[in-house]
Amino acid sequence: MSDMQHQASAPEAQAAASGLRASPSVAPATAPDMRQRIDEIIARYDRDPNHALAAMQDMQDAFNYVPREGLEALSRYFARPVGQLYALTTFYKALSLEPKGRHIVKICAGTTCHIRGGENIGAGVTRELGIKPGETSADGEVSFEEVHCVGACALAPVVIVDDELHGHVTLEQLPEILACCHAGSAVAS
Ligand code: FES
Repeated sequence: MSDMQHQASAPEAQAAASGLRASPSVAPATAPDMRQRIDEIIARYDRDPNHALAAMQDMQDAFNYVPREGLEALSRYFARPVGQLYALTTFYKALSLEPKGRHIVKICAGTTCHIRGGENIGAGVTRELGIKPGETSADGEVSFEEVHCVGACALAPVVIVDDELHGHVTLEQLPEILACCHAGSAVAS
């Protein structure tokens, strides 16, 4: 297989497979600022095409998504078709082509969580935040996502807010668990 036919390698898979990656607070970038930060991220890597996914993860961390300008810059630098890079961003849940909220709330939709009331909890999150799974609030504060089993079935039903996992969640607990996701709330460092 040639480099141009590159598929996700083991290091790439390790780099991006975790949907539990923390979503740090990210300030919106102006266009010149974004270009500079993209250049800085790319400069961390040599031109080995296998490093493209790691650079995309860095962009995700920097901007909370992988901007189109970033994909194009990566394509030029690593000599990989932009379509390949686009496919990687759609394959890995940790990467997004759309800007995400400052906070990421995840509801586990795995079997055990489902049996133990996860669907009700998800509906409660929607009531609390005003958004459905797959949506980001209009103020950019929070995105709500549904994820597969996160390996904490003994704690089902599970809700993850940024990098913090909450287990045995009840509807009554949701306002407190989600308090950090409302506009103006501080972001945990
Ligand atoms: S099914 Fe939710 S953590 Fe396993």
